[in-house]
Amino acid sequence: MESKVSKDPVVAIAGVTGAVGAEFIATMDRRGFRVGKLKALASARSAGKTVRFRGQDIVIEELNENSFRGVDIALFSAGGGISRKYAPIAVKAGAVVIDNSSAFRMDPNVPLVIPEINAGRIRDHKGVIANPNCAAITALVPLWPIHRENRIRRVIIATYQAASGAGAAAMEELVESTRASLEGRSFRPKVLPHPYAFNLFNHNTTVDPETGYNDEETKVIKETRKIFEDDKIAVGVTCVRVPVLRAHSEAITFECEKPISESEVRRILAAAPGVKIVDDRVRNYFPMPIDASGQDDVLVGRIRRDLSDPSGHSISMFVAADQLLKGAALNAIQIAELLPQRAMA
Ligand SMILES: NC(=O)c1ccc[n+]([C@@H]2O[C@H](COP(=O)([O-])OP(=O)(O)OC[C@H]3O[C@@H](n4cnc5c(N)ncnc54)[C@H](OP(=O)(O)O)[C@@H]3O)[C@@H](O)[C@H]2O)c1
Repeated sequence: MESKVSKDPVVAIAGVTGAVGAEFIATMDRRGFRVGKLKALASARSAGKTVRFRGQDIVIEELNENSFRGVDIALFSAGGGISRKYAPIAVKAGAVVIDNSSAFRMDPNVPLVIPEINAGRIRDHKGVIANPNCAAITALVPLWPIHRENRIRRVIIATYQAASGAGAAAMEELVESTRASLEGRSFRPKVLPHPYAFNLFNHNTTVDPETGYNDEETKVIKETRKIFEDDKIAVGVTCVRVPVLRAHSEAITFECEKPISESEVRRILAAAPGVKIVDDRVRNYFPMPIDASGQDDVLVGRIRRDLSDPSGHSISMFVAADQLLKGAALNAIQIAELLPQRAMA
């Protein structure tokens, strides 16, 4: 699609008060993303409050059918239902939608983009571009450059997913339930299905009664195949919510078509965009969510041969990434930066 956005676009954020919404604002500011005007949209609960952007207080408006008049870029992070209802309205009003929900990710007409992997797909959009699932982005940024050199035929992932992946209220629940637990008070979970303090549990998405896979796992499997444009890549994944405030971690083991060494993986990852190697065996210093928080890069370490595969085709590693940034807001702003611009008048 040849639609172009203005060089100083009118940008709307639907879900501006949320965990991702706050990072949209901070990321645009930090990266010097040009914005002609910002429209801050959320629910009726937030209407009339303000958010600060580049020294200005922007009044939050309630999202409605008329919110997208004159908008060039609409960043959506208000849940799948809101995206399904309002993204078509925004597109009809002439905006390019970059959607953080899962509503359109598997739609064959919607590009699913991680700029380090498939930026070229952006130009195929028909109004909506989808931002992939955060657990998928965290794994795929470092796996892609390896896959390109030596096809990965199978990958096994175990996730350690932070509260921030479930939004601002889940982060608050982790803090509040931890405080209650330390003070010996009882705490009834409101946002997540199980006690969160000093505990971990299966990802809080629906479990398919037939397959036993939760929705988050299914997303990782399907989105990996769509982004890599490889229907045959075998993906095994277990998604778990852990009591970490921010940034997801993942243990990843992958098997390549040809033999691959630890040093080859290091060489590839050292040159990979969006990846930072943190792999200090002497100091026992490897990727941690506390270090990944607030960082753009996916941290990768514990790079080692998978000893369960004596053929030399398999490598294990441990990664951590700020899923509010690379897993959501940063990835979306990177996409927005790559949208074709209208020539200046
Ligand atoms: N958190 C992550 O790491 C992450 C990563 C990738 C994708 N996502 C996706 O991004 C979306 C938001 O996630 P989040 O973590 O930022 O959630 P969140 O912290 O719970 O924020 C939700 C946002 O949606 C707004 N909202 C809710 N109902 C609305 C309505 N009826 N009309 C207008 N706005 C409404 C809220 O506004 P009020 O404050 O007014 O209620 C708030 O701004 C979800 O689709 C999520 O799956 C999240």
